[in-house]
Parts: sequence; C-alpha cells; structure tokens
Amino acid sequence: MARIGTTLTRFIIETQAGHPAATGEFSALLAQIGLAGKMVANDLRRAGLINILGLTGETNVQGEAVKKLDTIANENFVKVFQYSGLVCALASEELEKPVKLPENWPLGKYMLLFDPLDGSSNTDVNMPLGAIFSILRYEGKGGLPPDSELVRKGTEQVAAGYLMYGSSTMLVFTSGKGVNGFTLDPGIGEYLLTHENIRMPARGKTYAVNEGNYHKWPAGTRRYVDHLKEADKATGRPYAGRYSGCLAADVHRILLGGGIYLYPGETDKPEGKLRLLYEANPLAMVVEQAGGKASTGTHRILDVEAKALHQRVPLLIGSTDDVSLAETFIQGKQ
Ligand code: AHG
Ligand code: MN
Ligand code: MN
Repeated sequence: MARIGTTLTRFIIETQAGHPAATGEFSALLAQIGLAGKMVANDLRRAGLINILGLTGETNVQGEAVKKLDTIANENFVKVFQYSGLVCALASEELEKPVKLPENWPLGKYMLLFDPLDGSSNTDVNMPLGAIFSILRYEGKGGLPPDSELVRKGTEQVAAGYLMYGSSTMLVFTSGKGVNGFTLDPGIGEYLLTHENIRMPARGKTYAVNEGNYHKWPAGTRRYVDHLKEADKATGRPYAGRYSGCLAADVHRILLGGGIYLYPGETDKPEGKLRLLYEANPLAMVVEQAGGKASTGTHRILDVEAKALHQRVPLLIGSTDDVSLAETFIQGKQ
C-alpha cells in the first residue's frame, strides 16, 4: 500500500532532496504536466454537455481526422508551458513542426514531446483516453534548439510518462529511477501517490492488439497471436484479450498486471501505426523502468535511430518474457 497522503508536489520535493544539483525546474515541469492533465480531465468529464465531442473537420499532419478534443488537449498543453520558463521547445502529434518558445529562453532547458490526447477514437463513446509525454534536455548555449534537436533516440529521454483518463485520472511517470503512479483526487484537485515503485511481472496473462488487422500482419506475428490463443495450462494459455483502442490505457493495464501490447508492422506498412518519439519511446522508458521490455520485434525501442519527428515504429511492449517470446516468432525462430 502506497503512502496515501503523499501529494505529487511533496513527492517531487522529496525526490529532489536527493539531488543537490537540482534547480527545481524539472519538478515544476512535472507539476505543469499534472496541471494540463487536470484541465483536460475537467473538459472530458463534461464533454457531452458542452459540445466538444466529434470532429473539427480538419486533418492533422498524420493524415488523421482531428477531433475537437485533440485540439483542446493540445491547446491546454501549449498553454501551460508557453510562459512557464521551463521549456524552450515543444513538439506534438497535432503540430507539423516543433514550436519554439523564445519567451522561455535561456531559462527553459527542457524540450517536451507529447501526444496530447491518445486514443481519440474513444472520445465520443465515453471510453478511456490518455496523454503521453517525453522530456529531453537541451544543453545548447547558442540559442533556441533547431528542429533536429528534438529528434533524438529514446535513451536520451530524461523523463517520460503518461496521463490516463479512465474511471480515475492518473499520472504515471519515471525520471529514470523507477516508476510511480499518482491518482487525481478531484475533490481536492491534488494528485496523490497511489502506485509506488511499480514493478511488472516477468509474464502476464493478457494481450492487447487490434486483431481486425490480423490478415495484414506478416506470418510470424499471426503465428504468435495464434499461439497466445491455444490452450496450454503449463504456460497459462489461452491469454485473455483486452484492447481498449487507447495505447496509454492498454499499456497501463499491462504495466500493473503483466502481459503484452502489440501494434505490429503490417505487410504493406512495416513501420506500423504508432509514433516513435511521443508514443513508443516514452512508454518504453516507463515499462523498462518497471522491469519490462519494449521492442520493434527486432530491436530495443529505446535504441531505434530517430530520423523524423512523426516517425512510426512497430511496438511490442510489456512483460519481459512475453515480449522476448513474441520476438522469436516475429524473427521466424518459431
Ligand atoms: P491517437 O489517438 O493519439 O492517434 O492514438 C491512437 C493509437 C493508440 O492509442 C491506439 O492503441 C491505436 O492508435 C489504436 O489504433 P487502431 O484503431 O488501429 O486499433
Ligand atoms: Mn496516440
Ligand atoms: Mn493523439
């Protein structure tokens, strides 16, 4: 049982006390993410009442139809960081190019990449949603970072995490020393520590994948998913299928209970659907910090060379043994 009563602010102050060189900026940055989460959660709670469901009529840089709530969530994130003095550049799923924040320079040494609203197909049906974030540090002395500075390998993240808007709102993050989860108490507007030092089991009993794509997958992926559905007491099969359509929520279930989430490459789309910099990398950092594993099927996600801001990547993420087994199928070893 976690030390209920520890607020996010208190936790950050305590953690910072162990780092004499910490300036407090990083802590303030996490607090601002928490604030963006409160603002979005507040909108989501009343979404059906205030005409913010449905589409805007626009298409984003990914070629996806933009929901009103995608735009609102994106604006909330930009708003809480614009004059924060904490972040010199932002990149978002909903913005073609990074946004530079000269008003925060030279104070703000962090760069924030985010998916402001994850699982947007769930907005109109009262299902879980999330937000995913990745934090990088920019050491450059010469001025604001060029766009290329935001396109970095996952191992360079200094912190990462997600917000989850489910039956409760949660903030789960890592700064490289384990993973902790906070639940928003809406009555007092505070995030309280509820999931201290989360550790994943080495194997689970559930899998999450959009099985409607089965016939688009390469043979190895199909064989792996078939394998999970076979009955075998000794290995706990068949696994239970659980897929919400919200990556943050599906990974959250697996982070707490074990198992595997897959958004694999497809025969005609080998890079899959998910974005490396603000979906796969941050969740890979969280899961690895909790003792799990994240892979493309052939390589560790955090080692994937980043080449473009909106680059896509196949993702297998979850319990170490489950992801390792999936790799053997995908690599044709089974
Ligand atoms: P987003 O809403 O940010 O575009 O992300 C949607 C992602 C992810 O949340 C989810 O796991 C996956 O796309 C769902 O895709 P399918 O509808 O193809 O299953
Ligand atoms: Mn997403
Ligand atoms: Mn999104």
